[in-house]
Amino acid sequence: MNLKVNYAGVEFKNPLVLASATPGWDGRHLRLAAEAGAAGVVPKTIGPVVDWAHHPRCGRLALVRSGKQPIGMVNLELFTTMTRERWIESELAEAQKGGARVIASILAMPDPAETAVLADQVQDTGAVDIFELNVSCPMPASTVGMHIGRNPTLVAHQVESVKKVARLPLSVKLTPNVADMVPIALAARDAGADGLVISNSVRAFAGVDISTGQPVLPAMGGYTGPAIKPIVQRHLAEVALKVDLPISAIGGIMGWREIVEYIMLGATTVQSCTAVMWGGYEAIPRMLKGLEDFMQERSVNSLDEIRGVALKHITTTEIYAKEPPKFALVDKSKCTGCGVCRRLCFYDAVTIENDRAFAARDKCDGCGLCALWCPVEAIVLVP
Ligand SMILES: Cc1cc2nc3c(=O)[nH]c(=O)nc-3n(C[C@H](O)[C@H](O)[C@H](O)COP(=O)(O)O)c2cc1C
Repeated sequence: MNLKVNYAGVEFKNPLVLASATPGWDGRHLRLAAEAGAAGVVPKTIGPVVDWAHHPRCGRLALVRSGKQPIGMVNLELFTTMTRERWIESELAEAQKGGARVIASILAMPDPAETAVLADQVQDTGAVDIFELNVSCPMPASTVGMHIGRNPTLVAHQVESVKKVARLPLSVKLTPNVADMVPIALAARDAGADGLVISNSVRAFAGVDISTGQPVLPAMGGYTGPAIKPIVQRHLAEVALKVDLPISAIGGIMGWREIVEYIMLGATTVQSCTAVMWGGYEAIPRMLKGLEDFMQERSVNSLDEIRGVALKHITTTEIYAKEPPKFALVDKSKCTGCGVCRRLCFYDAVTIENDRAFAARDKCDGCGLCALWCPVEAIVLVP
């Protein structure tokens, strides 16, 4: 069994990459992630020198909870506060010492020629294996980040400009803040991109503190963590079905199960940020151990064997609606008659008879809500 993968011609010892964010704040932290086992590390996005690029600054975070359970995080963190010169002179080389692939996140600037200058300076360090072009940060009010990334023409201009100078493979980190990612992914591919990163944070609002009436965070931020996985997986599946480029997938990877899911949806590498921010670099070996155990148990010798296996089963809701229906069936030996299923059946299919639930086939629409919420797992859907 081996965990190796090949992304855009670059070999990774395993599929797990530390995503561009706070845990990759400088070379030393990137080295720590590499030493913890990450096969690739991405620094905070390197960009222009601007008046707010100072340290400290208001890179605030807020947990989003459902009840007491954190389901995601909103951040107001902009790009690196370290100068471009410092990354080039020392930090990228320090990151490289960890032995992982160094994937330089560079900001697409409004003038694509400036983006190319940055790429050229970064590759001259000799400390970088791949570029990750950031056209997806959700925070900036205008001109950079997703404001470039949601426009296929602007994305193409950026990619063409960087490709003119690039001696390294170029990945493009796309924004999930679009109705359809496919035209943007195609524009990036046609302009010469070697890989796609799907995707960045979801532009979001952190909530209202009801004791003060104030917003939890005063500006629109980026939503990350477990709650965004379904959004990212939608984009990933749509792009993977239509665009023949290697994909690095990111969004809510908290453990090995999500790594497997993303690979089954076509990803070659996966990246994780919130899991490390919530669990420290120890999250990295934990995820890799789980992945190895899964492969061992299922006799998966290489991740190539499972890559994209879920894609062929994806259809449209219109086609799915024509499939033979299924109906709720209650196992009376398990049912306790608690009535949860009756309260949640909006088709009035469920009744309680003699302290046991009964689902009428002529009323059941097969939605499965009763089975999902049955506290004793007494309900299954059957043809
Ligand atoms: C605090 C914070 C800072 C981030 N900074 C960057 C950044 O500088 N560049 C970038 O491309 N993505 C950045 N991201 C986005 C992450 O790389 C990643 O796409 C996102 O967090 C989704 O992955 P996750 O659910 O594993 O956290 C940041 C995310 C967080 C939480």
